[in-house]
Amino acid sequence: MKVTIIGGGGRVGSNAAFALQCAGIVKEIQILDYNQDLAEGEALDLLHGAATLGGQRIYAGDYDRAADSDVFVITAGSRRKPDESRLDLINRNVEVFKGILDSMHRGGYKPTSHVFVVSNPVDILTELAARTLNLPWQQVYGLGTMLDTARFRSLIAEELKLDASQVKALILGEHGDSMIPVWSSATVGGLPLSGLKQVTPALQNTLFTRTKGSGAEVIRKKGGAGWAVGATIAETIHAVALDNQALLPVSSQQHGCYGLRDISISVPTVLGRAGVIDHVEMDLWPKEVQGLQASGRALRETLNKVI
Ligand code: 2OP
Repeated sequence: MKVTIIGGGGRVGSNAAFALQCAGIVKEIQILDYNQDLAEGEALDLLHGAATLGGQRIYAGDYDRAADSDVFVITAGSRRKPDESRLDLINRNVEVFKGILDSMHRGGYKPTSHVFVVSNPVDILTELAARTLNLPWQQVYGLGTMLDTARFRSLIAEELKLDASQVKALILGEHGDSMIPVWSSATVGGLPLSGLKQVTPALQNTLFTRTKGSGAEVIRKKGGAGWAVGATIAETIHAVALDNQALLPVSSQQHGCYGLRDISISVPTVLGRAGVIDHVEMDLWPKEVQGLQASGRALRETLNKVI
């Protein structure tokens, strides 16, 4: 499978490329960036690791050479300032994003190509791509709350001194201020997390608050996320490459799940080689459904200002 990372010269895109290279599941990675030197530098640095990490084809290219890509990953865009919300980014990144979609149209893409949006505000830009590109909406999806879910699980595990891979706890909704924690189905090793006496409402609130603020916390400390976002980008791409029908909180255009329509947002989603296979309206607590619908309203309000 060939993956082209638009914005691959940046931290998020290059970290994603490295995560893909380490896993060795996709066989061709093209780095594309408006800064050609940076694209070539990252591609060369990654290529130098091929002897150790495996023989993928990794190179810097352009939109013409990207036309046969199976997945276009779009990570390009400005980063938030620590006190900025992701939606504040919208004015700056929408114009950049529209330019990228235009370049994709000119360079070409296959009827079976997927577009995987990471740039923020990811839900807004995913919906923009789904409405703009000549592709089925199922082949356009965004990172959504995949990174938030990874952070949530990892922070819970760190606090409870448990194996993070055994902690299953979802974040749904907007990748942003209105995201919601799904404690109703949180488990560790298959057992309800609520069964642990140390998991009090106060601790739940602390853990979710830290999760929601993690993007800004990382920006303050190191300028922006890279490793975990790269890992969750790779996790999403591997679900497509392996067609393993994974249930993931990616963002995609909604058609009635939890009453959500005409926006892209993260709900439990089955993802495979064909892209979005199903939206799963799993049982949630009433307050979780209300939070998800409020998140949808917040996104639609912003979307109406943009497109
Ligand atoms: C974050 O939360 C990059 O939006 C991403 O760090």
